[in-house]
Amino acid sequence: MLAYSYKQYGSPDVIKQVTLPQPTPKPNEVLIRIFATTVSAGDWRARSLTMPKGLGIMGRVVFGLRGPRKPILGTEFSGVIEAVGANVTHYQTSDAVIGFPGAAFGAHAEFITMPANGKLTLKPDNISFEHAAAIPFGATTAYDFLVNKAKLQRGETVLINGASGSVGSACVQIAKHLGAHVTAVCSGGNAEMVRTLGADHVINYRAQNVVEKGTQYDMVVDTVGTLPWAKAKHAIKRGGKMVLIAGITSDMFFGSLKARLAGKKMVGGVASEDRDILEAVVILAHQGVFQPVIDRSYAFEDMKAAHAHVDTGRKKGNVVVTVTSQDRTRSPIEMELQSKDVVYA
Ligand SMILES: NC(=O)c1ccc[n+]([C@@H]2O[C@H](COP(=O)([O-])OP(=O)(O)OC[C@H]3O[C@@H](n4cnc5c(N)ncnc54)[C@H](OP(=O)(O)O)[C@@H]3O)[C@@H](O)[C@H]2O)c1
Repeated sequence: MLAYSYKQYGSPDVIKQVTLPQPTPKPNEVLIRIFATTVSAGDWRARSLTMPKGLGIMGRVVFGLRGPRKPILGTEFSGVIEAVGANVTHYQTSDAVIGFPGAAFGAHAEFITMPANGKLTLKPDNISFEHAAAIPFGATTAYDFLVNKAKLQRGETVLINGASGSVGSACVQIAKHLGAHVTAVCSGGNAEMVRTLGADHVINYRAQNVVEKGTQYDMVVDTVGTLPWAKAKHAIKRGGKMVLIAGITSDMFFGSLKARLAGKKMVGGVASEDRDILEAVVILAHQGVFQPVIDRSYAFEDMKAAHAHVDTGRKKGNVVVTVTSQDRTRSPIEMELQSKDVVYA
């Protein structure tokens, strides 16, 4: 099979197309033919080893001390089950699925194996393969932080910094679904898009102060790392929460203490990669409550260009890569027709 592999950290040039043996599923695994994947912020961090200032060594501990531990990037995908292991009962060949290998990576390839009870779920037929591939990374992060960790409530006011990114655009939609009043922060060119996603108010961070005197929120969510506690604290009501999805190193270590001393709370850490959360966001997508934003779509051969676009730090939502297998016998449209008519409650 064709895949993209890297042996050293660096620019998109470190990514090389390679031919590898097609993996074989173990008894509890399924083999998936990947139809679409994305280049996510997770891929960018792992490839370039870009970490918040002072955390470079932690990046090496996570991604590999001397060089990348996981040679194939790709945190999320959609595809079709090609083969099932001997013990797998709840998937069969031709099932269309959405997978979230997440920190295990491996989706920048024509095939991947995953445990059948892992972060994998059936793809509803009203979601295209392209959109399906762009669901897991942003939406599970947004869902885990807003719903599970910060417990955003109906009627609360929330400021979302980085509202046009993959995580931010999912935060806007999920916060609206939860019944919050959303103020979205992005550049002027993305204002209309985030309004379309449901934002009630938009702040153009290039033209206005993000933290305006006299305006306070129940929750401030930073998905960029440009709203440190020292600045954000003025915009959070007493008893309110700062949600640190991306942030500066000192806030990661001391933010909770600083927030507590100010009568506020900081919610941070790493998003849980969990099958239940994946299923929850796929249900929201199936219901039309959440739709992943797709900025650009690239062919598999243009993987480097996809990385280069993500490296600009300006992508809108998600960058999708369509994986076209040389020996693929069915067209994407035929595969779409074969996807299961999934019924969700
Ligand atoms: N804690 C966790 O577990 C966790 C999980 C997933 C992701 N993350 C982190 O979350 C961050 C966001 O991920 P992502 O996938 O959403 O990234 P992304 O899609 O690459 O974010 C790009 C967006 O950032 C916006 N942006 C850039 N500078 C900005 C600024 N100064 N103010 C406001 N918006 C700005 C851009 O909007 P404009 O073009 O409009 O400026 C662009 O739309 C990454 O650092 C990622 O590592 C953390």
